[in-house]
Amino acid sequence: MVYRGPYKIRIDEKDIPRIEHPNDAVIRVTQAAICGSDLHLYHGLMPDTRVGTTFGHEFIGVVHEVGPSVENLSVGDRVMVPFNIYCGSCYFCARGLFSNCHNVNPNATAVGGIYGYSHTCGGYDGGQAEFVRVPFADVGPTVIPDWLDDEDALLMTDALATGYFGAQLGDIREGDTVAVFGAGPVGLFAAKSAWFMGAGRVIVIDHLEYRLAKAREFAQAETINFAEHDDIVVTMKRTTDFLGADVVIDAVGAEADGNLTQHITAAKLKLQGGSPIALNWAIDSVRKGGTVSVMGAYGPIFSAVKFGDAMNKGLTLRMNQAPAKRQWPRLLEHIKNGHLKPNDIVTHRIPLEHIAEGYHMFSAKLDGCIKTIITTDAA
Ligand SMILES: NC(=O)c1ccc[n+]([C@@H]2O[C@H](COP(=O)([O-])OP(=O)(O)OC[C@H]3O[C@@H](n4cnc5c(N)ncnc54)[C@H](O)[C@@H]3O)[C@@H](O)[C@H]2O)c1
Ligand SMILES: [Zn+2]
Ligand SMILES: [Zn+2]
Repeated sequence: MVYRGPYKIRIDEKDIPRIEHPNDAVIRVTQAAICGSDLHLYHGLMPDTRVGTTFGHEFIGVVHEVGPSVENLSVGDRVMVPFNIYCGSCYFCARGLFSNCHNVNPNATAVGGIYGYSHTCGGYDGGQAEFVRVPFADVGPTVIPDWLDDEDALLMTDALATGYFGAQLGDIREGDTVAVFGAGPVGLFAAKSAWFMGAGRVIVIDHLEYRLAKAREFAQAETINFAEHDDIVVTMKRTTDFLGADVVIDAVGAEADGNLTQHITAAKLKLQGGSPIALNWAIDSVRKGGTVSVMGAYGPIFSAVKFGDAMNKGLTLRMNQAPAKRQWPRLLEHIKNGHLKPNDIVTHRIPLEHIAEGYHMFSAKLDGCIKTIITTDAA
């Protein structure tokens, strides 16, 4: 898969990546997925997304080649690779901030490395391909347990870990009301995870009815279609005894719908680093003293966020790119115990040569699309 510019994706031949460092591995990809974050790249909104880049930060595969210092992986191992690239030993990695590694990205003042996620995130090629180079192969990639299905393992590499992390950052207490903006893969997994952490009520908000239906079925959530309400914030107040939700999770990010002015100033005129409408709805819908957990991705520059209201309400705002591997031990338990079947949210499976159609369908939210898996001939 090769990026040719906004809304342009092509299939091209590239050389098979080689071992460039003793702790690299080369993985033969069996399955990859398209993430909501890839849509920000596809729409040309992520700074320094260069033509010729291969996207894809959710993938699993089989180890094809290892560098001389790799100890934890062998050729032929079936592995899942967290979307973060990280060294495992810098100041930040030592504190579990794998998504903020200091050694993998020349722009590492904020984010660390992410596969296939522009030069802002290190300029690595991603896994929507037949082969991918995996740096620090002893740190991130993990052999997939025999009992775990490929598709479930694939979702662990980002969407599922991110949803779970979103719920974790909410600091949910027993009985809390948790509202989740966005019923995409991240929002669905966040809503499901909120129950694991003791939520008493889970409400999912979106405007795509088919996704809200999935939120009811998969995450046992109450749902609200914001397009059917004049003011979603008033509706949220009404449904929470006029206090607001205890915890709100933003699983939408910078391309939110629901406010034309924000959409034009952000997406069209690029005066903002993204439309903050979902984030502002989160700030307005949470109760005073509550917590907003931001999983949605935002650009690095200014957006008109209601920061003063957040301050005056005494909110706790928590956010990060998910350090995916940190969530794996508990997620494996939940899956093994049957509390969760991640691939229930998968709607499409498309061969790599048709990936451009996969992007178009996901971007335009056609054909009931929630999560698309890309398969390769190696699968
Ligand atoms: N923090 C992380 O580590 C991380 C990891 C993965 C994805 N993300 C980000 O999470 C976000 C969601 O990812 P996804 O894969 O679920 O994407 P997605 O595009 O499938 O889902 C986004 C959903 O938000 C809905 N939406 C749009 N405007 C809304 C609004 N104002 N209020 C409520 N819902 C609204 C859309 O209809 C859509 O269903 C993206 O911004 C993505 O970049 C972050
Ligand atoms: Zn992602
Ligand atoms: Zn590090």
